[in-house]
Amino acid sequence: MLDLVTDKTHEEARQGEAYAPFQGDPNQYKKHFYIESYGCAMNFSDSEIVASILNKEGYGATRNLQEADLVLINTCSIREKAEQTVRNRLVHFKRLKENRKGVLVGILGCMAERLKSKLLEEEKLVDMVVGPDAYRSLPALVGEAEGGQKAVNVLLSRDETYADISPVRLDSNGVSAFVSIMRGCNNMCSFCVVPFTRGRERSRNADSIVAECAELFEKGYREVTLLGQNVDSYYYTSDSGATVTFAGLLEKVALVSPLLRVRFSTSHPKDITDEVLHTIAKYENICNYIHLPVQSGSTRILQLMNRTYTREWYMAKVDRIRQIIPGCGISADIITGFCTEEEQDHQDTLSIMEYARYDYSYMFYYSERPGTLAHRRFADDVPLEVKKRRLQEVVDLQGRLSYESNQRDIGKTFTILIEGESKRSDTDWMGRSSEGKVFVFPKEDYQLKKGDYVKVMAADCTQGTMLGKITGI
Ligand code: SAH
Ligand code: SF4
Ligand code: F3S
Repeated sequence: MLDLVTDKTHEEARQGEAYAPFQGDPNQYKKHFYIESYGCAMNFSDSEIVASILNKEGYGATRNLQEADLVLINTCSIREKAEQTVRNRLVHFKRLKENRKGVLVGILGCMAERLKSKLLEEEKLVDMVVGPDAYRSLPALVGEAEGGQKAVNVLLSRDETYADISPVRLDSNGVSAFVSIMRGCNNMCSFCVVPFTRGRERSRNADSIVAECAELFEKGYREVTLLGQNVDSYYYTSDSGATVTFAGLLEKVALVSPLLRVRFSTSHPKDITDEVLHTIAKYENICNYIHLPVQSGSTRILQLMNRTYTREWYMAKVDRIRQIIPGCGISADIITGFCTEEEQDHQDTLSIMEYARYDYSYMFYYSERPGTLAHRRFADDVPLEVKKRRLQEVVDLQGRLSYESNQRDIGKTFTILIEGESKRSDTDWMGRSSEGKVFVFPKEDYQLKKGDYVKVMAADCTQGTMLGKITGI
């Protein structure tokens, strides 16, 4: 698991680090693109689709900004801070353009969708604006921008899933990969900008998902994370009329190989079914870990957020998970200081955290987003310092809960998938348990490698890491 995150590091941690990938032989391509990604795993996955589209057009990826003919930034709008980070990068890229003629800068992703042509026309920060459903048109847009035209495509689609595009894995550890299973979101959580930036929900062809997972396994990958904003509402109808639910899809992917671990993100508490829980319990290789964002512990606030469940309903869902999948890891997303939040509502959030005993949480203070239901309907009336103080209390509590969860595991043995060497020492391995906990343990004399499974006993822990010892292979 990642170290504890506050809003400060959210973009880097909950949603992966911003990265600039390198792929393939640099001499194979005449032109090069450089891409930085921000935001959620879906955005990182999209950058791999973009890389595939550009490779076909003769562009190779480069990590070196100075070498790039095309500079792309795949962006996030989820909180104001995420957008500010991107703006700072765009100013930096603009300076780069001034020194190097002919370089094109394009903005992709959710901020492109939200601001449309504003960054190109009014602010003149970019040459291209490409929304999340328009990546197939990227080569044509590059051509337009090269010809000095305004290159903008922010059309949202009802059916684009990029199903046929085989993503080029960027900066991968060669063990785990993201696989996108659906796009968009039909929920209308009142704080959230995603339905506006990503459009209507649509599910990707199940066969193409299973084929991608099988291909990853063939290439040596041992873990896939199925991605969607709301994976439990996955529903695919094939041409022959056969339907696949999320539980059905999980099963199909689990059957690719017992050695392929399956994870998924994110579940909406209202949509996760017993059938999904039983499927997780049935297959050893479907990880015992559920990310179940609660957002708030107060029924009144949950209603204003349009989350469609109550505090009690959520608690019953946690009970159900623990009943069907004993020992299941559970994590959450939590927002403090949403509109009208009182001290009692905040206490309800703290107490639901205690009840759910989250192994981990991603915690934020509320950031009003233009155009959302909350922006239109409610005043953003909790002072910033109160939002931040409540966030700190939530972060502190989560720190204790994570530590207690880790302590409960001491003495137990887990099957760990080795992801690579520990960052701190090349004599230690780093890997994860099915429940999502990070284990670090000495290699000793065992002949193991990345992608192997190994039995590890938890001997000690910190708040973020289990320290283990190999007991068998
Ligand atoms: N579909 C995912 C959410 C993606 S956004 C899901 O439902 O879990 C990830 C998290 O960002 C959300 O769960 C929420 O906790 C947080 N978030 C979204 N909008 C926010 C806002 N306006 N201010 C603060 N946090 C927000
Ligand atoms: Fe946003 Fe809610 Fe959809 Fe998640 S489920 S993306 S929080 S609207
Ligand atoms: Fe951000 Fe868009 Fe993902 S707003 S969280 S990159 S769906």
